[in-house]
Amino acid sequence: MAYRTVLIEENKMMMERLTSVVRNLAGFEVSARYATAGDALGQMQAFNPDLILVDVDNEHNALLIPDLKRNIPGAVIICLARRWDSEAQAKLLYMGAKGYMVKPFTGEELLETVKNVSRSSLSAYSKVISFFSPKGKSGKSTLIANLGTVLAAKTNEPVAVIDADTQFGDMTVFFNLTPQSTIVEAVRDISFLSPVTLRTYFTDTGRNLQVLCGTSKPDMAETITIEGFTSLVKMSRNLYKYILIDIPSGFSDISATACELSDKTIITTMVNGGYEVQHMKRALEIFKAWDHYQERLDLLFTRVNPFTEEQKNKLSEQMGYPVKYIIPNEYLLVSEAADNGRMAVTRDPDSQFSKAVENLADSIIAGE
Ligand SMILES: Nc1ncnc2c1ncn2[C@@H]1O[C@H](COP(=O)(O)OP(=O)(O)OP(=O)(O)O)[C@@H](O)[C@H]1O
Ligand SMILES: [Mg+2]
Repeated sequence: MAYRTVLIEENKMMMERLTSVVRNLAGFEVSARYATAGDALGQMQAFNPDLILVDVDNEHNALLIPDLKRNIPGAVIICLARRWDSEAQAKLLYMGAKGYMVKPFTGEELLETVKNVSRSSLSAYSKVISFFSPKGKSGKSTLIANLGTVLAAKTNEPVAVIDADTQFGDMTVFFNLTPQSTIVEAVRDISFLSPVTLRTYFTDTGRNLQVLCGTSKPDMAETITIEGFTSLVKMSRNLYKYILIDIPSGFSDISATACELSDKTIITTMVNGGYEVQHMKRALEIFKAWDHYQERLDLLFTRVNPFTEEQKNKLSEQMGYPVKYIIPNEYLLVSEAADNGRMAVTRDPDSQFSKAVENLADSIIAGE
């Protein structure tokens, strides 16, 4: 049986365009067409539609979404707009819509959106985690690549790594990828994209783990605007359950924005001589300006030796703040694995390093 579709669109040219896309799509039929949601109400019941595509650039239509839903409770309502707008989308989903698309769309995009309807509230559940390090060489890229791998395997949910270490990102190396596009193009094009089209900028690494690679040329980093980066992260929430962001070390516009946008920021530092506790303390003082910082900040030390609970407690004491996670010193394993594009967690799942990453993943999954 074909998907009975109702189109609500005032602009005649756009209506013709959308009609032909839906008609040409196998499994879909256009049952009725209306200029406004007001016209559709009271008339479309006769067609018992499965799908209602409604233009929400017309504000009046947007306000009638609860009525459309009440009229045909079984139909899926997908909103259409010329531009992606995360805030508007959140409101419309709250009002009863199941999806939001940029128009005009292709048949493929419509199919993908309908398919994702059951996950359309994903953005409300998605978890964005940034890894902040006061200084470079903290082990955070190693950790992110391995954690992404574990989260994808454990949850079966869509997981993404965004390499926003804009000048010297190295996720391409970690995952041994040859990306067709990077964060630079994604941010450049973001105002024309919707989640469905944004997905194509990510590179597959396996079934449910994708990477938005960093730029290969450091000078391209300047083209990444804060506004574009913000839209990118917000839109990605519609695609992935877990999003791990690698950011440049230290405080910068990009790193501060990523942390602001994140549900959690994990401050990551490598134990290496002793000064790192001071760096971590100074960074922590700055983050303490956040409201409810305790809920949004976790501390993590890498290369901890001896890798014991006592050592973790000692670090917490020195910090005057609980250290939530520690990662052991396993240079040989992590560096050999990174060199050939294989993750330490897959190469040696029983190692202390892998177990520590697994603990971190479990705690993220549990929402701790
Ligand atoms: N748990 C660990 N034990 C020992 N060595 C590690 C560990 N994690 C990472 N390393 C090593 O430390 C170095 C830095 O790691 P990585 O590139 O992950 O850090 P980073 O914070 O992303 O650095 P950058 O500032 O260059 O982005 C690498 O040589 C890596 O192999
Ligand atoms: Mg790095």
